[in-house]
Amino acid sequence: TSSEPVPGYTHDDPDLAPSPVTRAELDLLLASVLFGPADQQALHTAGKVLSGQIEQILDVWYGFVGSHPHLVAYFSTPDGAPIGDYLARVRARFARWIADTCTRPYDERWLAYQHEIALRHTEPKKNETDHADSVPHIPLRYIIAFIYPITATIRPFLAAGGHSEEQVEAMHQAWFKAVTLQVALWSQPYAGRAW
Ligand code: HEM
Repeated sequence: TSSEPVPGYTHDDPDLAPSPVTRAELDLLLASVLFGPADQQALHTAGKVLSGQIEQILDVWYGFVGSHPHLVAYFSTPDGAPIGDYLARVRARFARWIADTCTRPYDERWLAYQHEIALRHTEPKKNETDHADSVPHIPLRYIIAFIYPITATIRPFLAAGGHSEEQVEAMHQAWFKAVTLQVALWSQPYAGRAW
């Protein structure tokens, strides 16, 4: 369940470093993706709908990554051997991320863990959490490109809860906004001053 400790998941760690992104910057980004109270409500419903389907969702996403050698390379050693333990540990944190995206308040702590997730995709922190012998960073262009598969593939899962077409669409739009918002936040350490 969501209360079991997940190795390397430090969202609630009191030592978590604050994000360089301010609350005011977050508010303007939320406005820029047209994220409002209705989206928060829709995500809350999505959280309930998705909670029983997490493993199936991760099967789809890992199937997608696994079927593209240029993507699985980022979970592999520099000479291209996939690291099973690394894949498994990240998968468990990914499961928490799905729930967090739907149910956590987007507050200062959430911002701090957003920054941590961003760093874990980049040179300063990739591989550190899992002591993985993998390549040093993930190119920003793939992080941006992933907005599409992460959004498109969630729809059938959102539709599996017996909600109306209109409600499913509202959940899907809210999810799309939440993923786009997070990728905008995660671009911060990549972009530096240009952010
Ligand atoms: C880690 C989501 C893009 C490879 C993670 C984690 C999440 C996540 C939730 C775990 C964070 C944690 O440690 O708690 C996403 C989302 C993406 C995205 C939503 C884009 C919309 C990518 C891409 C790749 C990738 C394009 C490359 C194939 C990885 C790897 C880790 C990771 C290797 C482990 C990093 C580490 O060493 O700690 N991602 N990711 N991700 N992701 Fe992504």
